[in-house]
Amino acid sequence: MVKYLADTQGLAPAEAEPYRYLIEQDLNQVESFDPELAVMCGRCHSSARFALQRRTEAEWEHLVHFHLGQYPSIEYSLYGRDRDWLHLALTQSVPELAQRFPLESESWAQWQAADKPELEGRWVLSGHMAGKGYLYAIMTVVADKKDYYSLSLAGRYANGESVSGTGKAVVYTGYDWRAQLQLDGVAMRQVLAADSSGNRLTGRMFQKEQELIGMRITALRDVGVSQLNSVFPSHIRRGRSQTLLLTGTQLSGEIQLPAGLALEEIVSRDKNHVAIRVHAAKDATTGAAELRVGPAILSGALVVHERLDALSVEPAYGIARVGDNGGATPKVQAVFRAVGMDFGPDNVAGTKDDIRLGYIDDASWTVAPWDAAAERDEDVKFTGKMDPGTGVFSPADAGPNPLRKRSTNNAGNLKVIASYRDGEQDVTGQAHLIVTVQRWNSPPLK
Ligand code: HEC
Repeated sequence: MVKYLADTQGLAPAEAEPYRYLIEQDLNQVESFDPELAVMCGRCHSSARFALQRRTEAEWEHLVHFHLGQYPSIEYSLYGRDRDWLHLALTQSVPELAQRFPLESESWAQWQAADKPELEGRWVLSGHMAGKGYLYAIMTVVADKKDYYSLSLAGRYANGESVSGTGKAVVYTGYDWRAQLQLDGVAMRQVLAADSSGNRLTGRMFQKEQELIGMRITALRDVGVSQLNSVFPSHIRRGRSQTLLLTGTQLSGEIQLPAGLALEEIVSRDKNHVAIRVHAAKDATTGAAELRVGPAILSGALVVHERLDALSVEPAYGIARVGDNGGATPKVQAVFRAVGMDFGPDNVAGTKDDIRLGYIDDASWTVAPWDAAAERDEDVKFTGKMDPGTGVFSPADAGPNPLRKRSTNNAGNLKVIASYRDGEQDVTGQAHLIVTVQRWNSPPLK
């Protein structure tokens, strides 16, 4: 029934695209949304929650009335009691919702008329897992019947760990891929979207039980043409040599590097990958470099840079939740990644010549009190543990803690610090981590 409704009353790819982070369960995000609608409608759940629906004006109005009946606190909770909420909702929010998210749309009409791709075949998949590094895998997809697939996946992380498993996928609305798989005994989910050609899937793969433990992935289907998908790592430094792993399909042609990059050695290659040792000259042009293997071109994925000036920690603001300890609600971990930054020729942070280098894998991780209150309450000691090698924070047990002031629970306010030893200096970056209480009501879309 869900599939029937999705197929007949779903969202066109272009309609879902800006809000896919919600369905992909990429939850440590700060949304940027129209501030009025965000306060009226996006203060209890995400704004993506309503931006992923399409209704007539009358149906948006029904939703407001139904909300008020179901959640009367909407009028007296924060940002409800300071205004005439119901009046504003009916006279301002409803028309705006109806205009921005109408039931009938051009893109939905076009998508309904469009040919929907079959997604069977051999896919080259890549992503990045915190603590394990880049993933390169082959995913083989076989159709069981229209829109229902069996899949198997086998690959390797940059740290040498192999990964394999099998699963099943259902495609909703002609492009929206939902797979359940077991990878080495861990239950995983894939939430991917096929592009209009049906030869490219993008989205997230994550642990079923810990949605934040996962990665953004892209997969390219082998359709007999030469294409590049990704390069790992995504940065090379002037004056250094680096092994690069390029992935794609039908990669049999000649390897061509831009001026300033010299091929030292082909470490290994087959039609889905090319591993090469490359040297960047001291005067190689900094910025995005174009890579070619035969006719396949990958532009903008590799950058040449001069220095590692700072780390930017992603997400900048993360949330973990205490749990377990005999209760029914599991802990929610948070995961951070370090992204390298070169401040560019002007050596000033935040200007347009800054170069984003991509993930820096060998960073080490610690937490510190966010402020004086967090220091006084010993939040670092009570809230949980940061894995120094992976950036994964595992929160402490739920429930009152007699060792804390007023036996409060193990919530707290932390600074997450990433640090990387670069020659003689330590390059660092930081983010904010709130460790908070359980989410008691956990709808599939937050
Ligand atoms: C006082 C908190 C609160 C505010 C403000 C609020 N919602 Fe909700 N909303 C909820 C809760 C609670 C649910 C049900 C739990 C869930 O699914 O997150 C929900 C569910 C939803 C859903 C999914 C379920 C459905 O009925 O389709 C939509 C869509 C939605 N809200 C839209 C809106 C819109 C539009 C506004 C502004 C007019 C709004 N919400 C304002 C609390 C709120």
